[in-house]
Amino acid sequence: MKLISDILQQLQRHLFDTITSSNLVYNTCWEDPRIDRALLNLNSKSNILMLTSAGDNALDYLLDDVKHIQCVDINPTQNALLELKKAFFENENYALLWDFFGGGKKSGAELIYRQQLRTLLPKKAQQFWDQNIHDFNPDSKNDSFYFSGTSGKVARTVYNQIQRKGLTAAVENLLSAKSLEEQAYYFHEIEPQLWNPFSEWLLGRHATMTMLGVPPSQRKMIEQQYKDGLLEFIRQSLQKVFTELPMTDNYFWHVYLTGHYSSDCCPNYLLEKHFQTLRERIHRIETQTFSLLQALQKSNKTYSHFVLLDHQDWMAFTQPDQLANQWRQILDHAQSGARILFRSAMPEPDFLPGFVFDNISFHPELTEPLHRIDRVGTYESTYLATVL
Ligand SMILES: C[S@@+](CC[C@H](N)C(=O)[O-])C[C@H]1O[C@@H](n2cnc3c(N)ncnc32)[C@H](O)[C@@H]1O
Repeated sequence: MKLISDILQQLQRHLFDTITSSNLVYNTCWEDPRIDRALLNLNSKSNILMLTSAGDNALDYLLDDVKHIQCVDINPTQNALLELKKAFFENENYALLWDFFGGGKKSGAELIYRQQLRTLLPKKAQQFWDQNIHDFNPDSKNDSFYFSGTSGKVARTVYNQIQRKGLTAAVENLLSAKSLEEQAYYFHEIEPQLWNPFSEWLLGRHATMTMLGVPPSQRKMIEQQYKDGLLEFIRQSLQKVFTELPMTDNYFWHVYLTGHYSSDCCPNYLLEKHFQTLRERIHRIETQTFSLLQALQKSNKTYSHFVLLDHQDWMAFTQPDQLANQWRQILDHAQSGARILFRSAMPEPDFLPGFVFDNISFHPELTEPLHRIDRVGTYESTYLATVL
């Protein structure tokens, strides 16, 4: 029995690694940069090393006039996405940026890409978008860029369910509700109808979690904490996000429930008032396709900030040696007092190698109040550490 379960786990991990190393998984960042910026204390001397994901949060940090941001991702398609976003700033046309990434679609996307954007991209990003720019076509099968990519496809399935059940108006009411009381009213109208054998089956699949970028190790962390496993975790997260936090500025959930942002509910990089500032600073963001460990091993720089997202959850049970090496490299490349930010599906960072605790201090007094108002609402914890 143990052998079969080990083989199954290896297969699940292999499927996850295969899908997440060559497909666009995150078409938007799933971490709240408002919280990050309140914790990171960024300024014109900041030298940041961070994971790319969809690049939105790197663009957000630029608003704090940081010196340099090195975005590293093991998945080249995530860097290609950030490079495309950068190209829209270099192209100096705000309206186009909004149509593509605000509305999620644009007629003539392929032609615009070839005429105005392609030459602004590095070769690897060109190769990716030559094959995928059609995801922005209004008549593409997904109907929005935000319903493309692996997590986008899961969002599309949920969106289809909402339409099929005639819940579109209720969802619109939920998103535009003016008070938490109103939100709770609409949420309780919608929520019971979302749960049925199909949705429970879908969300219980490893394949679905892989498409959402949730590795088996993170799923295991969640299952250890919730008696009824993943479904209970999802139910509780939805309840918290939709009844305890205002929806009016929650662009994370807005985009996946509608396929687009609105002008008053979107990431900062899409606001017209920031376009010129970001255009002037856009060259300060650099992308690299490496693992974080490789990037650190190759780097002779020191950093004032490290933003690790939740990727340590990916390594927690399966790559303890790599995680330890990575932390040695982080500490070797850290400036005095450097800030390190990460999130996790674990309430405590039990997965950190022991020596790390001798070299950093945590700041729960800063993170805990902010974690409670995190608009994403699907992480168990947020950590800020400073290097001693
Ligand atoms: C950890 S995932 C989590 C998603 C995240 N919470 C967000 O904001 O979207 C973010 C990115 O990290 C990348 N990644 C995961 N492990 C990595 C590693 N060891 N080195 C570099 N990138 C990694 C993934 O390819 C993905 O694009």
